[in-house]
Amino acid sequence: SNEEIQGTNAEPRNNNALAPGEQPETLTNRQGHPITDNQNIRTVGDRGPSTLENYHFLEKITHFDRERIPERVVHGRGAGAHGYFEAYGKLGEEPISKYTRAKLFQEAGKRTSVFVRFSSVIHGGHSPETLRDPRGFATKFYTEDGNWDLVGNNLKIFFIRDAMKFPDMVHAFKPDPVTNVQSMVRFFDFISNTPEATHMITFLFSPWGIPANYRQMQGSGVNTYKWVNSEGKAVLVKYHWEPLKQGIRNLTQKEAEEIQAKNFNHATQDLYEAIERGDYPEWELQVQWMEDGYHPELDFDPLDDTKLWPTDQFPMLPVGKMVLNRNPENYFAEVEQAAFGTGVLVDGLDFSDDKMLQGRTFSYSDTQRYRVGSNYLQLPINAPKKKVATNQRDGQMTFYVDIAPGQNPHINYEPSSLGGLKEAERPGAPHEPEYNDKLTRQPIDRPNNFKQAGETYRKFEQWEKDELISNLVDALSTCPSHIQERMVSYFTEADAEYGQRVADGLKSNQAESGHVGTPAANEGMELSAELGQKTD
Ligand code: HEM
Repeated sequence: SNEEIQGTNAEPRNNNALAPGEQPETLTNRQGHPITDNQNIRTVGDRGPSTLENYHFLEKITHFDRERIPERVVHGRGAGAHGYFEAYGKLGEEPISKYTRAKLFQEAGKRTSVFVRFSSVIHGGHSPETLRDPRGFATKFYTEDGNWDLVGNNLKIFFIRDAMKFPDMVHAFKPDPVTNVQSMVRFFDFISNTPEATHMITFLFSPWGIPANYRQMQGSGVNTYKWVNSEGKAVLVKYHWEPLKQGIRNLTQKEAEEIQAKNFNHATQDLYEAIERGDYPEWELQVQWMEDGYHPELDFDPLDDTKLWPTDQFPMLPVGKMVLNRNPENYFAEVEQAAFGTGVLVDGLDFSDDKMLQGRTFSYSDTQRYRVGSNYLQLPINAPKKKVATNQRDGQMTFYVDIAPGQNPHINYEPSSLGGLKEAERPGAPHEPEYNDKLTRQPIDRPNNFKQAGETYRKFEQWEKDELISNLVDALSTCPSHIQERMVSYFTEADAEYGQRVADGLKSNQAESGHVGTPAANEGMELSAELGQKTD
């Protein structure tokens, strides 16, 4: 276990020996000094002034001053839980080894510990959990080969397909840098210049944009990955979490507002309480696969994360299930400090050339070295539950030395013939894709930005369509007319009825209020609406 590994690598963390006269429950500071007075700072007389040698007070207050670490730049609000993943040993009806050699999937019934963090994306650490926003669904599998992170969302697609656009997208969605208020004008300013977002917007403004809680929602890896078998042959895969036991439930805008008026922590509370009462949430992991390649027969690029893979051609094949059965003991240590990344794969799992995935893979560990610190992988929540032996040393908050049992502690380099670490054996044939093309900056050649958005619209039930239209009309009513027109043109390209209904809704809103853009719900939106008009 992790505990054992730390034991072999470092002095015991906590020795429970008591000082003379000390009781087990006695309060101490972090120097181990028993604290005799935790109520009064040391002062001249009972009215002060105070002195600077109040060691206990200074330790207490300065630690308090440093309690917060930088929040995640996105997905700041979250809730987490521990559990396990249990493999079915098959991909649908076939032996899974035909497709991947990843050990955690091979045997039916094999369990791997997991930690999951669910989140909302745009607003900060204590924002309401009822907001229209994608939900994060990040899973850390502590496998025997080291950690695998599957960093997904509830929705199966995304707004953009090139990582270059991500900081701009997040800036447009986050609060206005002047007013600190989120503005639909800024949001739709960006989206109306990003036609590939039409499909995601169709999901986001429908009830699918407000899952009822974290238990009753799906998850998806969104990006395209690869699986590699023992011969080094790869297939393209997409991962999906299906809440078969709890089912899926989404909220209308009105339902969300009613919850929000009384409780802005309902999703965190729901997850925690379900696990406390033994009603453990479960998801089935389902995988879609296709041969690795360009697939000229498809009208979309398999590496484009704004697209669904049609399930009639690429069925969802079950590979295992996950059960969450243990709440964190400490929110900060486990949930806040948890660090997931798309680069964290194990043997048998690989990246695809999906440009978003490549950008993400750099971004996650980069932000974590800043957010949590350079030794974030030594924290118990992030450390694998297996041996770690590296030649990495030092840096802020070094907690132990990553030394192997029997390793010469003087040798922190490789190669060496003096008892240092050695490279591992290759676990199977390598997957070595070949490339022969110009190095370039270019969009993909099959953007097909609207077709699937239309299909998704037509698949919605009537109440979902009605919600979608009303939510879009409300949000777009605050926007200048050129933004409204452009959005209507995208919806019309997706589906004529869809575009017409949004256009009609905007027209009747305008007739009621007498001008384009209803009075914004708040000052911030009005300010940005004006700005939008000025730069028109
Ligand atoms: C969190 C970057 C796209 C899902 C984050 C964080 C960054 C980031 C910097 C904060 C991580 C931390 O502080 O630990 C990016 C970039 C993207 C991108 C650059 C596009 C190029 C996506 C997509 C998904 C996604 C497409 C869905 C599949 C998540 C989740 C988290 C997260 C679930 C929260 C992880 C947690 O619970 O700690 N992202 N992201 N991101 N991202 Fe992304």
